[in-house]
Amino acid sequence: MEDLFKRLVSHAKEYGFIYPSSEIYDGLNGVYDYGPLGAALKNNIKTYWWKAMVQMHENIVGLDSAIFMHPKIWKASGHVDAFNDPLVDNKDSKKRYRADVLIEGEIDKMLAKADKEVDKAAKRFGETFNAQFFRETNPRVLEYTQRAATTEKRLAEAMKAGDMADLGAMLAELEIADPDTGSRNWTDVRQFNLMFSTQMSNIAGDDGKLYLRPETAQGIFVNFLNVQKTTRQKLPFGIAQIGKAFRNEIVARQFIFRMREFEQMEMQFFIRPGTEMEWYTYWKEKRMAWHRAVTPAEKLRFKDHDNLAHYANAAVDIQFEFPFGFKELEGIHSRTDFDLSSHQELSGKKLQYFDPELSENYVPYVVETSVGCDRMFLSVMSNALIEEQVPGSDEEGNTREVLKLHPALAPVKCAILPLKANNDEIVAKAKAIYNKLRFHFECQYDDTASIGKLYRRQDAVGTPYCITVDFDTLENDTVTLRERDSMQQQRVSINELAALIGNNVDMAHLLAKIY
Ligand code: GAP
Repeated sequence: MEDLFKRLVSHAKEYGFIYPSSEIYDGLNGVYDYGPLGAALKNNIKTYWWKAMVQMHENIVGLDSAIFMHPKIWKASGHVDAFNDPLVDNKDSKKRYRADVLIEGEIDKMLAKADKEVDKAAKRFGETFNAQFFRETNPRVLEYTQRAATTEKRLAEAMKAGDMADLGAMLAELEIADPDTGSRNWTDVRQFNLMFSTQMSNIAGDDGKLYLRPETAQGIFVNFLNVQKTTRQKLPFGIAQIGKAFRNEIVARQFIFRMREFEQMEMQFFIRPGTEMEWYTYWKEKRMAWHRAVTPAEKLRFKDHDNLAHYANAAVDIQFEFPFGFKELEGIHSRTDFDLSSHQELSGKKLQYFDPELSENYVPYVVETSVGCDRMFLSVMSNALIEEQVPGSDEEGNTREVLKLHPALAPVKCAILPLKANNDEIVAKAKAIYNKLRFHFECQYDDTASIGKLYRRQDAVGTPYCITVDFDTLENDTVTLRERDSMQQQRVSINELAALIGNNVDMAHLLAKIY
């Protein structure tokens, strides 16, 4: 898995998906730039989300609110006081860590030890082995799993109570060392606020202190009445938004998994109080279906939150099995009326809905779905990048690197390749096909190498179809159409290409799996 991750990072750079930001100045930690193919793939992911959320729901509308907002918004939302992570410095290495992440790492090690015992026993006992029975009865496995559970519970309690002293005590008791140097010489654990701030030019002092939004959701909350009134939506209804968010993460790591500048795709669903669990369940299922349409089910799972955010009364993550293990991809939160009520209180403006069925005014409750665009990108890429034996070949070592992206997400849908780059007639014909097809979908013309090399390059960037223009094309207006995954080729008339490829790369196929 570690190997896959390294390959993925270098593949992303080599083919123009993702570059380290400011690379000529040795990069900026936790910040990345999307190259030409990366930008295209990211746009397709966003389109898939937007279509699934806005286009497919009559009662969900879009929004694009500003990144800069009134500073009081972050006071009301609780982010000024509570959007913190527990920071600890190692006095010897001078490195900074999140204390909770160090403790979680220790819990993972305990569980890994339990898994190792189970694996060893499975090998010893062979086919008759009952893994579940062994887990429930073997004293060593029980010791590891119980220690992990107790530690997890204590961590959740300390995080909830903001008990930094107990986190420090846990680091000491569990003998947790700096992963880089092995030193256990820690400072006290203290709260660190994750918001970036800047100063507005025309207002001095704290009143002009602006924050870069750490979530897009607040732009939705403060526009709730504007949107409801201008769209005449009735509850339940949702507001969806895609946009940048910024967090001063203590440790930004694992490539684009944890960044300081990233993008979120969030939807707030406004509902009648008391119906939140029903909608929470509905959105859990719908969001999982959205992921499953492009990702194998066994790579996805739900994980309930042990440690609820300050605004939530229920929360679950959809986790994906990244190359470094199962981690959060999307969060689904039941946010009660926390945000709207807080904004109502601090702004002095009513943020209520008149429910015609109940004939009463109330502050709506909210169920939120929030997925990181970059994490989705990473999950899609890590799932798709495969090194495989060339289909149909028995020759040892005849492998290819292929990015098996869903055709609807692939940055380029079709590459048009002339068999002979030095034949003017074939080149002209290929360019004419390219000029025709690019009205329908993203195409690429390439004549810079032999046909075999051009195929390999398109495989590596996930292009689902390649069209080869040859001598027969000049005679009968047909081309060879090659499909990426099977590598099967068929002879197709030029006139059929737009409809055939267009149908196969249509996002409607993905949406049909969800709705
Ligand atoms: N509005 C709710 C909210 O922001 P969150 O769980 O903190 O909830 C939602 O974030 C999603 O945003 C996460 O599931 C993740 O996909 C993405 N995300 C959060 N922090 C991130 C970071 N530092 N880098 C990349 N993506 C991040």
